[in-house]
Amino acid sequence: MAYISDINPDLILTYTVIQQQADTLCDFLERSQKKYDNTDPHDRNYLFLSIRNQFNAQQFEINYNQRSENRVLRAAQLIFLNKICFNGLYRLNSKGEFNVPHGKYSHPKIADPENITAVSTFLQNVEIKHADYTDCLNKVTSNSFVYFDPPYKPLGKTANFTTYTETELTDRE
Ligand SMILES: C[S@@+](CC[C@H](N)C(=O)[O-])C[C@H]1O[C@@H](n2cnc3c(N)ncnc32)[C@H](O)[C@@H]1O
Repeated sequence: MAYISDINPDLILTYTVIQQQADTLCDFLERSQKKYDNTDPHDRNYLFLSIRNQFNAQQFEINYNQRSENRVLRAAQLIFLNKICFNGLYRLNSKGEFNVPHGKYSHPKIADPENITAVSTFLQNVEIKHADYTDCLNKVTSNSFVYFDPPYKPLGKTANFTTYTETELTDRE
C-alpha cells in the first residue's frame, strides 16, 4: 500500500481532487488557461490578484471532506496560483493567506490534462491524508520505504524561506 500526507489542507485537497475528480479539474484548468491567455499581458497581474483574493476569502468556507464542485474550484485555483506566481512558491502569512506575488512568464502551462490524468491514475490506490507527519508512524514496518519531503533549510542569512504554513517544522521535529 502507499500512503501520503501533509499538514497543508489545500495541498491534500488538491491531491484528493486529482485522484477523484480529475476530469472536472481539467475542465476548470482549461477555462483558466483560456482566460489567462486571452487577457492582455498588462492586465494579467489583476487577474492573478483577483484569483488570489478569491482563494484567500474562501479559505474558511471549504468543506475539505465533501466531493463538491467548490472543492474542485479550490484545487484549480491553487494550481493556477502555483503556475503563475513568483517561482512557484507556496507561502502563507500569519493570517493563513497565500501572499506570493505574480511571477513573470510568457506562456505558463496552467492546464496540463495529460499530466493530471497520469497522476490521477497513479494515485488510485494511494491513501491521501491531511495529517501531521508523525501520523504515519503506526503504518511503518521494517519493510516500509519512507520518503520525507520536509520544508527546505535556508541557504544563507538572507534566505529564510522555510515556512509553508502557519506552523514551523524545524530540525528538532
Ligand atoms: C518541500 S514541501 C513538500 C511539498 C510536497 N511534497 C508536494 O507534494 O508538493 C514541504 C511540506 O512539508 C509540509 N509540512 C510542514 N510541517 C509538517 C508537519 N508537521 N507534518 C506534515 N507535513 C508538514 C508542508 O505543508 C509542505 O507541504
